[in-house]
Amino acid sequence: MADKPVVYVLNGPNLNMLGLREPEIYGSDTLDDIAGRLEDQARELGLEIDMRQSNHEGHLVDWIQEANARQAKAVLLNAGAYTHTSVAVHDAIKGVSVPVIEVHLSNPHRREAFRHISLVGQAAKGTIAGFGALSYTLALDAAAKL
Ligand code: DQA
Repeated sequence: MADKPVVYVLNGPNLNMLGLREPEIYGSDTLDDIAGRLEDQARELGLEIDMRQSNHEGHLVDWIQEANARQAKAVLLNAGAYTHTSVAVHDAIKGVSVPVIEVHLSNPHRREAFRHISLVGQAAKGTIAGFGALSYTLALDAAAKL
């Protein structure tokens, strides 16, 4: 049987701390909890997910390029704070053809002014933000329909 289309789910800095980190903003689910639910959802959608987390900006760049080279169906990207600062991640998204969907647990527009700029969002196909862990579920549904 042919391989299932793969969706990369890339998570940036501090997202390894989910569940412990500011739960009043980010909720009590850990990244492993989210991964488990996405695995189930992907199975139902006939997709495979490749989920990763790094605190290092360059890893996100490498993985976006890798997803493109592997002809992934889409990339779900929660770049954490690099969302607001990383020209390198912006350029990586611009430089590939794989669709990148920006994902956030919180709604950055309701938060501090420095979160209102998204260099990721300026390059991404679309953005899903503000629904807590459900943002990932909604983004995977969107990816399946692309
Ligand atoms: C975040 C929002 C960012 O502003 C923040 O730096 C994060 C998490 C979110 O998922 O809500 O690390 O990307």
